[in-house]
Amino acid sequence: MEGKFIVIEGIDGCGKTTQINKLFNWLPNSGLINKKSKLIKTREPGGSLLGKEIREMILQNNTNNPPANLTELLLYSADRAEHLSKIILPNLEEGNWVICDRFTGSTLAYQGYGRDIPINTIKKLENIVCQGLIPDITFFLEISPQESIIRRQNKVPDRIESEGINFLTKVNNGFKSIALENNWEIIPASLDFESISNLIKDILINKFSL
Ligand code: TMP
Repeated sequence: MEGKFIVIEGIDGCGKTTQINKLFNWLPNSGLINKKSKLIKTREPGGSLLGKEIREMILQNNTNNPPANLTELLLYSADRAEHLSKIILPNLEEGNWVICDRFTGSTLAYQGYGRDIPINTIKKLENIVCQGLIPDITFFLEISPQESIIRRQNKVPDRIESEGINFLTKVNNGFKSIALENNWEIIPASLDFESISNLIKDILINKFSL
């Protein structure tokens, strides 16, 4: 497998989308990617066709009947299983590069640390769904929960974003522990967008220069 799998993680409002778009524009002429390889930008939940419907189901906020925690975990896992088999794995097998907005770290952080589902349960499910696939590199864009809330104040929140500061703090602390345990690249995402982008580029150049 020659393709590379790059994942960006962090709490809502950390600036993932902006950084992924910058990366998507920069990578093709960075000299890092073989000219024959394609670059794919995708996300979880919702990176596959069926996943878009699952995303809608999980995140809709106009419901008086939110999913139970275990149902929520299984829906995110179903989205990932579909995404892996239809989008991520076929592209990596063709030697393409895949940039993914969220992956298994989000499930550990939100459903594990946030919802208190035992980490072992989540890891067992992850083994079934991912069949050993580990990202080549994961970036954690770290901001404080307070900053996340301020940055999103003009946006209509989805169901998970509506959970409030205590939930968000548990999730963010979870992300930090997971990042340290797994040697993710931790990026201080309260910096300005250009500095963050330059940090990410430098790390990729150091890691993947041909
Ligand atoms: P997004 O707004 O970054 O696309 O993410 C959608 C929401 O889903 C976000 O609040 C985080 C949440 N989420 C989980 O709770 N578990 C997961 O496994 C994933 C991928 C996302």
